[in-house]
Amino acid sequence: MEQYVIKGGNPLNGEVDISGAKNAALALLAASVMTEDTVTITNLPDVRDINVLIESIRDIGATVNRVDKNCVQINGGTINSVTVDYEYIKKIRASYYLLGALLGRFHKAEVALPGGCDIGTRPIDQHIKGFNALGAKVLIEHGMIKTEAQELLGNHIYMDVVSVGATINVMLAAVLAEGRTIIENAAKEPHVVDVANMLSSMGANIKGAGTDVIRIKGVEKLHGTEYAVIPDQIEAGTFMFAAAATNGNVLVKNVIPKHLEAITAKLLEIGCSIEEYDDAVRVIGTKDLRSTHVKTLPYPGYPTDMQPQIAVTLAVSRGTSIVTESIFENRFKYVAELARMGANIKVEGNTAIINGVDGLTGAQISAPDLRAGAALVIAGLVAKGYTIVDDIVYIQRGYEDFEGKLRGLGAMIEKVSSEEEVTKFKLKVG
Ligand code: EPZ
Repeated sequence: MEQYVIKGGNPLNGEVDISGAKNAALALLAASVMTEDTVTITNLPDVRDINVLIESIRDIGATVNRVDKNCVQINGGTINSVTVDYEYIKKIRASYYLLGALLGRFHKAEVALPGGCDIGTRPIDQHIKGFNALGAKVLIEHGMIKTEAQELLGNHIYMDVVSVGATINVMLAAVLAEGRTIIENAAKEPHVVDVANMLSSMGANIKGAGTDVIRIKGVEKLHGTEYAVIPDQIEAGTFMFAAAATNGNVLVKNVIPKHLEAITAKLLEIGCSIEEYDDAVRVIGTKDLRSTHVKTLPYPGYPTDMQPQIAVTLAVSRGTSIVTESIFENRFKYVAELARMGANIKVEGNTAIINGVDGLTGAQISAPDLRAGAALVIAGLVAKGYTIVDDIVYIQRGYEDFEGKLRGLGAMIEKVSSEEEVTKFKLKVG
């Protein structure tokens, strides 16, 4: 099993290039099966979840040409099945986007019930509510979600919770439904806008993506396109907090600074300096990080996917901070691991009370999920001595060449798979 071994204590310095957004790309890949023409997607992040979804799209008969690690061409003209049961598909959450996409095009889809990171119960009732409203029946049996419609008819849909997944899924199906669909209380995340933009470039008629009311006028069919995925705001934010926590100075490149506003606001509050450019952000740390309070919220609020990274940084900031998680109920599992490194954090319900400590010490810890795993790597970069992070398969789901990009900033980190490799690393870095 692969692990990261880290020797902490080096401030991160230099420049890092951000990859395409995983959570946007997953939905764009699903959208690419909605036409018989070829869709070319560039700036694709080369991460596990993306590769699993691509394989499952190949598995239903689409012609897939992986031009290079960051570019794929998909032709859905050869699709011969609407049943998605690829071996690994259950492991990724976004498999459910194929439901909306295939339902839209073929009026029928069967997809293995999604898994994804264990951060809460993660119901899909709003997806089902949306499909039902468009005239589709939805049934869950034998571990599969099955949906079918005689005809798809546009409708007025009010989402009971703000859900990225449900907004995108219903939008996918609705672009090929007859008539008008209005999605109210829609999610406003940048990836919702990205999906709407790609669908529009395929001939869909969508207005209002990025606001809480999305209006869709159904079209008969979609055509091919070439589309570049937006930069990953969560990967960018992760490097920004890594720079802050290690008192570094990092230029985070290939980003849309507007998407990072909630993150930069918090970095400023805790004492970092920020320089904003057209497509880059520089984070300059300080020895004297201060406490703050933060509550996760749907976009444009502070993202839940950035909650563990700020918590690690606050764990080594002066004073008491309060972090409130309002999106998922099980997103503090990393706290027990951080405590083993000397952090002082108490979790009460959906709140973590963090009393900043002077420093952390290296330990063997384990990544409980994707973002928490990345945050624990930041903790390892801050800590005195060696840290070993187990279960890095979670991190590999969503961060392209995480260790390589960190090494480019001066971090001492290596991916290893044996005790001998750990020893070799320790001899190398001293
Ligand atoms: C997406 O998950 C992301 N995943 C998550 O990123 C991210 O944490 C989350 O959005 C919030 O930003 C992907 O894009 C693949 P939601 P999703 O539907 O769509 C409740 C990562 O680390 N809800 O916006 O599953 C739900 O329980 C991952 O990259 C319902 O009640 O999230 C949650 O409390 C982890 N019923 C809230 O809504 C539903 O039908 C928001 O969930 C759907 C959701």
